[in-house]
Amino acid sequence: MSEKTQKPKILVARSIFPDILERLQEVAEVESNQSDRIWEPEALRQALVDKDAAIITGSEPIGEAHLKTATHLKIISNIAVGYNNLDLAALKAANILATNTPDVLTETTADFGFALLMATARRVTETEHWLRAGHWKKFSICDTPLAMDIHHSNLGIMGMGRIGQAIAKRASGFSMNVMYHNRSRLSPDLEQECGARYVDRDTLLKESDHIILVMPYTPENHHLFGEKELSLMKPTATLINIARGGIVDELALAKALKEKRIFAAGIDVFEGEPTVRSELLALSNVVLSPHIASATEKTRRAMIELAIKNCLAGLAGLAPPNLIVY
Ligand code: GLV
Repeated sequence: MSEKTQKPKILVARSIFPDILERLQEVAEVESNQSDRIWEPEALRQALVDKDAAIITGSEPIGEAHLKTATHLKIISNIAVGYNNLDLAALKAANILATNTPDVLTETTADFGFALLMATARRVTETEHWLRAGHWKKFSICDTPLAMDIHHSNLGIMGMGRIGQAIAKRASGFSMNVMYHNRSRLSPDLEQECGARYVDRDTLLKESDHIILVMPYTPENHHLFGEKELSLMKPTATLINIARGGIVDELALAKALKEKRIFAAGIDVFEGEPTVRSELLALSNVVLSPHIASATEKTRRAMIELAIKNCLAGLAGLAPPNLIVY
């Protein structure tokens, strides 16, 4: 706590909506980053030295080196549902709480997953580029870029948490046949509600017309989608990743797309964000978006508000609503 003001000192690591920042400043002494500069690890370590709490995003990795000198730090509040940027063992050893922002982004993220699936299978961005490049000279029944159907196709969802379930429910409106693979199987009631059947991973890979990745990124599923998995997919299939870039071996994916061993991919998350591999940028059968699945104003506001709520609860010695248990 700052002695003069008795307000807690909070780092808000990235730019947030000014009206929300102003409200936070009424109850805390805030170091903000409204210019949204990217943190070097050492600058972030220094910024944490005198802070009681930090509100950060998935772009700020926090590890042991940051925590060693952050002797006042009580809580790290992530503005994201994923928290693979946090070294949980180091936080636990330092007795620092960590929180995330689930639920408030579920429906918005599921909407985007579906949008990316549709744009990819129906070649929305690719055909727009085709049109803009002047290739649309005449109407043609079969000499236009032809796409893959969504309706009545097989959708494979990898990761059946809240977002996976919300995607499955959308798929029923398109009469899709939904299968899923997950660490644990849903209850029969929930499977029925989602209209989804549980299958093993290889069945999902082989039978899906569209595969969407929505599972958390862990050391166990690093490059889970590599050469072998891609080779099991149908040549007509699409792969959509709205989870984390590291789950897919991007070079293997780029090669499979280039050699047309799968039809197309839609990618919102990248291993080296914000850098995107030239091998992916060079391809036309891939739809690329800059990690925007939760990016509506309403949802981003809700995520920030929830991160602040978690942060202030932790500082007040109360159980934050979205404590990450480790
Ligand atoms: C976004 O990727 C999130 O984890 O909220």
